Amino acid sequence: MSFSASLIKKFRSDIDGDYACLTPKSLVLVGLMGSGKSALGKRLSVALSLPFIDSDALVEEEAGITIAEIFELAGEARFREMERRVIMSALEGDACILSTGGGAFCNKETRAAIKASAASIWIDSSPETLLSRIGNPASRPLLTTGDPLEILTELRERRAPDYAEADLYLRTGKQSHRTAMKKLLGLLVDTGHIHRLLPASAR
Ligand code: S3P
Repeated sequence: MSFSASLIKKFRSDIDGDYACLTPKSLVLVGLMGSGKSALGKRLSVALSLPFIDSDALVEEEAGITIAEIFELAGEARFREMERRVIMSALEGDACILSTGGGAFCNKETRAAIKASAASIWIDSSPETLLSRIGNPASRPLLTTGDPLEILTELRERRAPDYAEADLYLRTGKQSHRTAMKKLLGLLVDTGHIHRLLPASAR
C-alpha cells in the first residue's frame, strides 16, 4: 500500500525522528479490531521506510468484495483461509510492516507462520477503547450479532492467550497517534528491533 505525499507528511508529524530496522524481519501487528494496528502500522512503515501491508485490504482486493460480504456469502472459514494465504505470501516477500485482521493470529497455522519468520507485537486496549475507535460496528461482521461491547469483551478474553504469544506487547489507551507511536518506537528500540538514527547535525 503506498501513501500520498500529504499522508506521508501527516504520518511523519506523529513520529519524532528517524529510525531504521536492525533485523531483516517483518514486523507484524496483531490484536483486536480497533486496537490501532493499521493506524500505527502505516506510521511505522513511514518511520522505517518499509512497505505497509494490510491483510484485510489484501483479502478484499483479491475477493473484489468487502469482508462483511465475504462473511455473508462464503462464511468465516473461507475468510480465514483467504486471510492465511495473503499473510503467508506477504511473509514470503521482503521485510514489511504487516497489519493483520483481528482474528488472524488466533488461527494456529497463521500464527505459526508469523512466529517463524517475523517479529510480532500485540497491540492491546480495553474493550471500551476498542469500541470507541471502531466507529460503525457494521463494518465488522463479528460485532453485528449482539451488543458490540459484550462481544469485544468476550473476544478479548477468549483470544488473549493467542495474542500473548506475540513477541512484544503494547497497551494503548485513548491517546493520540503521536503518543502511541512514541511508545511503540520506544518499545522497538528497547527490545533491539530498531534503532534511532542521529540527526545529520549530531553525526
Ligand atoms: C476480525 C477483524 C477484522 C476483520 C474481520 C474479522 C476479527 O479486522 O479481519 O472483520 O476476527 O477480529 P480488523 O482487526 O482490522 O478490524
